[in-house]
Amino acid sequence: MFHVSRITHHILMKLGVDYYPEHWPQERWAVDAKMMADLSLTYVRVGEFAWGLFEPSEEEISFDWLDTAIDILRNEGLQLVLGTPTPTPPTWLTANYDVLQRDERGIVLNVGSRRHGCANNPAYQIHSQRIVTAMAQHYGSYPGIFGWQVDNEFSCHRTTRCYCDHCRRAFQEWAQKRYKTLDHLNEAWGTIFWSATYTDWSQIPLPMYSSAQQSPSLQLDFRRFSSDSWVAYQKQQIDIIRKYAPTHQITHNYMGLGDGNVDQQDYFDLAADLDFVSWDNYPQGAKGPDDIALNHDMMRGFKQRGYWVMEQQPGVVNWHPYNRPVPPGQVRMWSYQGLAHGAEAMVYFRWRAARYGQEQYHMGVLRHDGSKTRLYDEATQLHAELNRLPNISRTPAEVAILFDFSDWWTIQIDPHQHDFSYHKQVQAIYHHLWQAGISVDIVRRGATDLRAYKTVIVPSPILIDEAELETWQHYVESGGRLAITCRAFVKNQSSVWTDQPLPAHLDKLLGVKLDEYLGIPPDMECTVSNVAQTDIQSYQLWADVLEPTTAEPLMVYSNQYWAGKAAATMNKVGQGVAVTIGYLSEPFFASSVWQTLGLNELALPFNLPAGVEATRISFEGGGEGLLLLNHHESQTTVEFSQPVDALLSEQPKVTSLPLAPFGVEVVRW
Ligand code: GLA
Ligand code: ZN
Repeated sequence: MFHVSRITHHILMKLGVDYYPEHWPQERWAVDAKMMADLSLTYVRVGEFAWGLFEPSEEEISFDWLDTAIDILRNEGLQLVLGTPTPTPPTWLTANYDVLQRDERGIVLNVGSRRHGCANNPAYQIHSQRIVTAMAQHYGSYPGIFGWQVDNEFSCHRTTRCYCDHCRRAFQEWAQKRYKTLDHLNEAWGTIFWSATYTDWSQIPLPMYSSAQQSPSLQLDFRRFSSDSWVAYQKQQIDIIRKYAPTHQITHNYMGLGDGNVDQQDYFDLAADLDFVSWDNYPQGAKGPDDIALNHDMMRGFKQRGYWVMEQQPGVVNWHPYNRPVPPGQVRMWSYQGLAHGAEAMVYFRWRAARYGQEQYHMGVLRHDGSKTRLYDEATQLHAELNRLPNISRTPAEVAILFDFSDWWTIQIDPHQHDFSYHKQVQAIYHHLWQAGISVDIVRRGATDLRAYKTVIVPSPILIDEAELETWQHYVESGGRLAITCRAFVKNQSSVWTDQPLPAHLDKLLGVKLDEYLGIPPDMECTVSNVAQTDIQSYQLWADVLEPTTAEPLMVYSNQYWAGKAAATMNKVGQGVAVTIGYLSEPFFASSVWQTLGLNELALPFNLPAGVEATRISFEGGGEGLLLLNHHESQTTVEFSQPVDALLSEQPKVTSLPLAPFGVEVVRW
């Protein structure tokens, strides 16, 4: 068994655990630390819910117990990540000050849980800053500290948007900063509609419970404001930590994205002030293996650099209606999936299953009784393998998907078709690329340099950005392949419809005009085909009916009254091509579109079995290959088009490679 402090060579991805020493008797801490060291862990995260223990009554602050725990851990060679404890204000605080959030109906989010504090509440801010200052002063030069996690999962339990009086006043100030005068605001929001003209800033409401919808403009800005509120709240803590602990790294633990669940916080904005992004990966909450992969790529994209998994599902969890078994090998495989997408650390949540509280059925690396689960052995195996493997890295992606939270929110607020989802569209695009073994970067809309990518896909950029249009024009002219999907450039940044013909300002680049846009309800059967009518697909939810000006049709609608009209087109511009895709289908790309975008050249030269994930990797010092993951509980065989060396199982020159259930392999061409 390795001891952490004795490892000198490069480790591809470091391992760690989330630990709550305060849940266990002090005599146990040395045993835990020794077991962690035996497992060759590097990082331990502590503290993020312990405010009440640090500050048992107002301004009586002590970190003695944590010092003892940290000393024991660091003496075993472990490095600490300190969570600031602000997601769980102490009970004296919530009893003495009204810091609680209010929901859309004004109902208070009660104590006894977590994340109930309001980001705009002055008392919550003051007390948060006080505890973080004390902590940062105390630990700024304490030995054994790697860095900080600010708070825990902002927006978890859908708590980004609060509707209390503090938030209403803060929103009015935010709006005043953005629009300067009431005339500007009234014009920008189109308040003339339904007699909503504001004559005083204090009249501006929050989009609370009401008879019919609230203005989409007000709703979009409220969403931006709410996201900004937590960015500012996080910044208050970051400023304090940087002041007293300037050498420490700072992160926040994000969540995997999804409609109606994790969709409230602009994660690009939140990333701007952090040193690196980390996230909490509970794969059983994802739609499938490709959705986990998409989340990993998102996390890499939010800061365009390596990231951490700060909480990795260790086995069975507690928070689904039905909590599925996690078979042997699956957590090891999920860990490799992180490595494949650029995770620099894999931290398992949690070290030991809790005996009390809300998460008793949540497994850990250790059981409730302190004995090892099979994850302990899997992590041991993983660490040994990571040490044995040559240095590899992801081969840079040649395809980018441009992503934007304001587009997502704008469509959520007024989807026109109930199931039309910006995020699901991204998932469908990604799924198709993932299946072909094509690596993808997620890039924020507005990026001004896309030259690194052979193909760029922009899903439903509903909000107009004329500056970005220039970037796209240059990208295509100089040889880029750009695809823009339905509902492009419809509204201005305040969610007001353009007075230009659709797609506003894009018609030259795309070489099309929009004849009409049609929402497709689920009971309508609609089909598209290629021009030769040899490839027919059904589509759902949306049809942008295109009228080519300079573009050529790639796909045409093939039934309903708009049959014969263009559904997807390609426009040659300079050295490149601009593709318009007017409908949503599964699989997302028709083969004529796939070819035009050059995706056939980027796909693997052999078919991957469904549920097998392949990531292109480069070996340090030269050489290319794949990291293969079998997401199936049964053996699956991959047939290559040329012999490969399988490095983990040490088999030279194989063309047919059986992957064990949840098996992993690193192959070199
Ligand atoms: C989240 C939280 C943790 C814990 C886990 C349980 O990710 O950050 O505190 O509640 O879920 O799965
Ligand atoms: Zn509030």
